[in-house]
Amino acid sequence: AFSQQLKDPVRVVVTGGSGQIAYSLLFRIASGSLLGENQPVILQIYDLPHMQAALRGVVMELLDGAFPLVHEIVASDLPETIYANADYAFLVGAKPRGPGMERGDLLKQNGEIFVKVGQALDKYANKNVKVLAVGNPVNTNALIAMSNAPSIPKENFTAMTRLDHNRALCQLGTYLNAKVTDIGNIAVWGNHSPTMFPDLSYVTLNGDKIRGKIDNTWYEKEFIPVVQQRGTAIIAARKASSAASAASAAVDHVRDWAIGSNGNWVSMAVPSDLYNGEYGVPPGLIFSYPVVCVNGAYQLVKGLKLDEFQQNKIKVTVNELLKEKEAVADLIRK
Ligand code: LMR
Repeated sequence: AFSQQLKDPVRVVVTGGSGQIAYSLLFRIASGSLLGENQPVILQIYDLPHMQAALRGVVMELLDGAFPLVHEIVASDLPETIYANADYAFLVGAKPRGPGMERGDLLKQNGEIFVKVGQALDKYANKNVKVLAVGNPVNTNALIAMSNAPSIPKENFTAMTRLDHNRALCQLGTYLNAKVTDIGNIAVWGNHSPTMFPDLSYVTLNGDKIRGKIDNTWYEKEFIPVVQQRGTAIIAARKASSAASAASAAVDHVRDWAIGSNGNWVSMAVPSDLYNGEYGVPPGLIFSYPVVCVNGAYQLVKGLKLDEFQQNKIKVTVNELLKEKEAVADLIRK
């Protein structure tokens, strides 16, 4: 009965296949957490030539999972093999940020990786491919990949701020002593970096607006900085970037995009070109907004009023993204 309902398999690319995030992500995808229990997958897993031995070990473990939904596993260092007819692409592979390293240090090195990824997607992937950048600096990496893949619609390129969104949910849930499922309408604006703005202006608890019940000092002095600095705090504690929580957020992001967010707001970094300067964000960036996902597409939450506090916070993160873009201008295809 199970097999009667199976859909045709889809091809899911994961780069950085031997890394920490992939080690969690691949098993979630294989288990059906991503696209549901009647959607078989073909895993197309990339890593660099010198990582192929480690990657073979990951493939052995995936095989040992005996996952019913995994119809095939392809592991390679060849872009033409990895990106061939891809339906989904998790762009995880990037140099990670270590202790004491600034995100800016990563811009150039990782930007060059995403030029190649964009070109490979352009050449080999399905034109409907849904792309999520997970490797930092995610927004600018997604922008670079998008600009180097002119044959693929811009809206197919996104970057991950769902981790920040989930962190915000968790912090607020703890503060309110509420379940995360009772909380709605959180918005994360901007860059996946310490300038991001986790915004509680519209937040609801069991459908009721509760901004007025949230202490301003806690909001501004605790909640916002804790969410903004959570990645750094995890690096300090683990001596390594967040991995399992990042993989989990990546699954949440692509699952909601593909299947729908059930009317819930989620945060996704998407091309600002789509929205004509809405909310003061200039075109030409990959920017996190509150969106709702329906039928395989995301839709901006429109018509929100922004007060001065919000406008200022959004300006800061816009300016940071403009600077990042300027720093990699030579990698962005006009
Ligand atoms: C995270 O948010 O956990 C990572 O993006 C941290 C980082 O900046 O490497």
